[in-house]
Amino acid sequence: MIESRMGVTVRQKGGYHAYIPKPLPPNPTVHFDDELHHLLSEADRALARLDGMTIVLPNADLFVAMYVKKEALLSSQIEGTQASLQGILQFEADMVPTDDINDIKEVINYIQAMDAGLARTSSNLFSLEILQDIHRILLKGTRGGKKDLGKIRTVQNWIGPQGSTLWSATFIPPPPEKVPELLEELEAFIIADDRMPPLIKIGLVHAQFETIHPFIDGNGRMGRLFITFWLCRKGILARPLLYLSIFLKAHREEYYSLLQEIRFEGDWESWLKFFLRGIIEVSNEALANAREIIALKEKLLDTLVRNNVGGLSAVRLIDLLFAKPVVTVADIGSALGISHQPAYDLVNQFEKLGIIREITGKKRYKKYLFVDYVLIIERGTGI
Ligand SMILES: Nc1ncnc2c1ncn2[C@@H]1O[C@H](COP(=O)(O)OP(=O)(O)O)[C@@H](O)[C@H]1O
Ligand SMILES: [Mg+2]
Repeated sequence: MIESRMGVTVRQKGGYHAYIPKPLPPNPTVHFDDELHHLLSEADRALARLDGMTIVLPNADLFVAMYVKKEALLSSQIEGTQASLQGILQFEADMVPTDDINDIKEVINYIQAMDAGLARTSSNLFSLEILQDIHRILLKGTRGGKKDLGKIRTVQNWIGPQGSTLWSATFIPPPPEKVPELLEELEAFIIADDRMPPLIKIGLVHAQFETIHPFIDGNGRMGRLFITFWLCRKGILARPLLYLSIFLKAHREEYYSLLQEIRFEGDWESWLKFFLRGIIEVSNEALANAREIIALKEKLLDTLVRNNVGGLSAVRLIDLLFAKPVVTVADIGSALGISHQPAYDLVNQFEKLGIIREITGKKRYKKYLFVDYVLIIERGTGI
């Protein structure tokens, strides 16, 4: 236990105790033992390898869009959103999704929040204004979003199992009147020109943000979005390729209990090690996935040649499927600039070869799924 790093619990009117953290950086500062050194350098390298891959990747933008969907889905699933990747793809293809529309909406919002955050070019990514903008996009039109869209909370909140109260909560974040000041301190730490390694810094920021819990809802997702914003802004990733949430979801209990140990033991190092382990694991996995996707593309081109499905249109259809894994004949016609009949013939050939599969079961307005590709991206997103 390192007492000087620990915040204080302050008794509130009503008898419960709210927690007020110490400002960052931890004091004494983060202790780099051999393990932490090793993990940091391994995480840096894993991220660099992942980032480097985008240079050799054909049509990198196509994959990136799918990776963003995957992160959006997983980050939303951590706190119970029950959507699937295929549900998202169905929704984007104007089908009635098999998942709950509210859950789909949350994931779509997350994707939009990601795009909006990445598009912001102002030098201070963590200003209150940006936080509120992103929050507004994230919770727009969702179940939890009515009360406090884009607003820093003015009431006390708490974290705990469903049905828990302020008196039985697992954790009670700071009282609302303290939140603006704590966010200002966090912002000052973020923009401070220290020489802290960026991965360590964002690890600290994420945990502190979750402790402050500045919004009524959406704090987990906001905190995870900022990890990606930060990595991209710092030039550590050229594109938002990391879906850390798969790791946080798989180790959810540990994620939560390590946050608690920061608060009540002053143990930042265990959290940072866990966080870096996650970055290493997910970067390596994303890299392996990308290799599989490249191999899939080569295999498909080879299949076309061997089966005499030739022509530029067939090759371009493969590219289209990587960008848009659910398509109609009309989509293909307009994307490839060909008329209905050749588009239809192409679809039939691709279906016979097992590359795409019809998913509506209808006679008209058929839609086709690029099966093998979705299977690769979908891994780990089962609910
Ligand atoms: N002790 C804790 N137990 C559970 N979650 C915690 C704890 N401390 C912080 N959290 C964070 O709170 C998030 C949930 O808060 P919430 O505002 O509902 O976010 P969201 O709606 O985005 O899931 C978790 O994802 C986690 O990041
Ligand atoms: Mg929530």
